[in-house]
Amino acid sequence: MPHKFTLEYAKYLDEKDPLKSFREKFYIPFVGDKQAVYFLGNSLGLQPKTAQDEVLNVMENWANFGVEGFFMGDEPWLDYHKEITPLIANIVGAKPAEVVTMNHLTVNLHLMMISFYNPSATRYKIICEAKAFPSDQYAFASQVKMHGLNIEDCIIEVHPKAGTELITTADILAAIEVHKNSVALVCFGAVNYYTGQVFDVEKITIAANNVGAYAGFDLAHAAGNINLQLHNWNVDFACWCNYKYLNSGPGAIAGAFIHEKHLQNKNLKRLEGWWGNDISNRFKMEKTFTPASSAEAWQMSTAPIMLLAAHKASLNIFADAGFDNLIVKNKLLSEYLFYILKEINTGNKFEILTPINPNERGCLVSLFVYKNAKVIFDEFIKNGIFADWREPNVIRVAAIPLYNTFENIYFFGTILQKLLTNN
Ligand SMILES: Cc1ncc(COP(=O)(O)O)c(C=O)c1O
Repeated sequence: MPHKFTLEYAKYLDEKDPLKSFREKFYIPFVGDKQAVYFLGNSLGLQPKTAQDEVLNVMENWANFGVEGFFMGDEPWLDYHKEITPLIANIVGAKPAEVVTMNHLTVNLHLMMISFYNPSATRYKIICEAKAFPSDQYAFASQVKMHGLNIEDCIIEVHPKAGTELITTADILAAIEVHKNSVALVCFGAVNYYTGQVFDVEKITIAANNVGAYAGFDLAHAAGNINLQLHNWNVDFACWCNYKYLNSGPGAIAGAFIHEKHLQNKNLKRLEGWWGNDISNRFKMEKTFTPASSAEAWQMSTAPIMLLAAHKASLNIFADAGFDNLIVKNKLLSEYLFYILKEINTGNKFEILTPINPNERGCLVSLFVYKNAKVIFDEFIKNGIFADWREPNVIRVAAIPLYNTFENIYFFGTILQKLLTNN
């Protein structure tokens, strides 16, 4: 059936949505006495109703057992991550041994670069996207400086084609070819934070590896949003945050992936701490570090169990919904959003920066609004819509399959249409 921009049709889509009951598992913010249209899961995912119980359970075990909580109670903390690892591995397409939940995204990017960016006299460049998320740019630049090298010589940015915000795979592959004798690391956001463009992780990895460079990815906007097959695509490393699409709370504990092909490589450099020591002799307090045989070898400090608890609550919801099902709904939601955006853009008042091709986008959609963008954006919240603002005049929205509805998209369309007419 062709799409329609009507409330009745949006309600019909919601009615036949097999995942509709999952919205009930989240606290939806209110504006006044009405539930908001929360299109900001790309920034901070909503709170699962089970998160407080999971955290409280840790608090209770702490109260009841003190430090013995590591070994006692219904969920001993020493094994706490064991439930989490396969759940997150499934979402990023990894083997459980390739995944570790630790630290925060930028910290993990630095730790991965310690292992995968070791410039030599001939191979020292990092190829990345132009206008990468600032934290990534700072990480690249500070790593280059730490090696005593020059940022201009080492950081090669691939730019969008003139007149667009999108970077083509061909241009990325061409940059790798041009710098094939000097590139050490190719590092991209798998989904660009500004445009929502999904990069071809597999092709970039093959091209990087073929010229003797490592391929690493920032999955901040990819983990929990798009289908990833990190293991099968042979990605060398990846890191992500869990507070956006993965609903694990503000400043949530993050994740990292190291491909199995590197796990036993004794020549790889790594910053080490006792929590990365194999569990079999971790508490013998020996002088020599015995790395865990998995990605956990990169873990340095005691696991923060309360953060893991909030993360677990969300991952269990993902598992109940089924990640493949969520990807199907993700595509349906964004298809309907694109349809409505085209319907209301009769006066060409905005440009959709996000690729039209459904294979090149997840649920993050960026609109470049030509006139009075900030005025329009400020009106959203008064109308009960949470959206995201990026200078100079970009409005980003994300319809999240776990808790957004087709009706949310319809409502957003009606408000945007009204605001565009009035501005
Ligand atoms: C693409 C991207 N990379 C890195 C970061 C930084 O993450 P963190 O503050 O968790 O280190 C963010 C945060 O929003 C991001 O969107």
